[in-house]
Amino acid sequence: MNPFESLGLKHDGRSLWVLDQTQLPDAEVWLDGSQPEVMIDLIKRLAVRGAPLIGVAAAASLATFASRGASASDFAIACAALRAARPTAVNLMWAMDRMKDAVEPMAEAYAIFTEDVRLCEDMAAHGAALIQDGEGLLTHCNTGGLATAGIGTALGVIRRAHEQGKHIHVYADETRPLLQGGRLTAWELTRLGIPATLITDSMAALLLRDGRVQRVLVGSDRVAANGDFANKVGTYGLAVQARFHGVPFHPVAPFSTVDLACPNGAAIPIEERDQAEVRGYGALRWAPVGVPAWNPSFDVTPVELVTSLVLDRGVFSAEELKVGTLARLSTAPPVHGPMGSLPPPDFLGHQIGEESP
Ligand code: MRU
Repeated sequence: MNPFESLGLKHDGRSLWVLDQTQLPDAEVWLDGSQPEVMIDLIKRLAVRGAPLIGVAAAASLATFASRGASASDFAIACAALRAARPTAVNLMWAMDRMKDAVEPMAEAYAIFTEDVRLCEDMAAHGAALIQDGEGLLTHCNTGGLATAGIGTALGVIRRAHEQGKHIHVYADETRPLLQGGRLTAWELTRLGIPATLITDSMAALLLRDGRVQRVLVGSDRVAANGDFANKVGTYGLAVQARFHGVPFHPVAPFSTVDLACPNGAAIPIEERDQAEVRGYGALRWAPVGVPAWNPSFDVTPVELVTSLVLDRGVFSAEELKVGTLARLSTAPPVHGPMGSLPPPDFLGHQIGEESP
């Protein structure tokens, strides 16, 4: 079995390791996620997070469990438990459904990993073609190498545009309540040397009004058949603000995030998390003890607010999505990026020549 590695996950051939995203940006601590029950806890507390990455990590954990001699019934129980670790990101269910019947679990986990790397490259190629030199780009949550096995979804698009020499400036929402933007996107952008400014979520409307943002790019945890999509809470508000200011708004997702079983956004299950995450952060609490708080982790943006969806299979307008394009695409062979001449990704999910983490 080949070892494999991405920014937030590595398998050394015997054990699976994940970068504890709750400790970033202050400490880079790798945790052993080889046991499914440990991986479930890591996923629930967002030490491992991001829709594609939780699918990849769950698959790799399950495969490691199998390689250590788990019985068929223990494997099936672990698979079902991992599948239920978080409810909104359909990539987790998609990956576990592939693993459930896998004849060679490690080969299947490796395939899920390498496919995700390729899907990121294809999204990046399609999405970067939309970005013009000089654009200000607004993004939400973390959608980069930490959230996938490859270069990311929305942040992968942004990274590719930067690598193409386009002069872009990224505005990163801090993303309340768990600060994936402030902690993780800011960390990735800094490492990549992409010009960026961190803002609080409540500053986005002002930036849009002042004409400093020409495009909004976000990820997705589940895209319904009609193009409505769930993403980190705050995305819907950004879409409303972008529409009001006439700024293009693009979700970016691999086809593993599309759930044709959900006819529209109302069918997407939304995770609700502990109220304590709204009352404070970590050991710090700023709200009165016991004050009622509401903590939906995701919201749903209706397709009417989408300019176009960037998929690994191409870019599709809201009009195309509304008439069942996603269902038709599910039976069509994938098309690799519009450039044709993209370098193949190395399986580490980094560009060749880039410094390793
Ligand atoms: O709760 P999180 O941090 O897992 O939420 C992540 C997001 O909302 C991302 O935008 C989404 O997973 C898609 S991008 C990889």
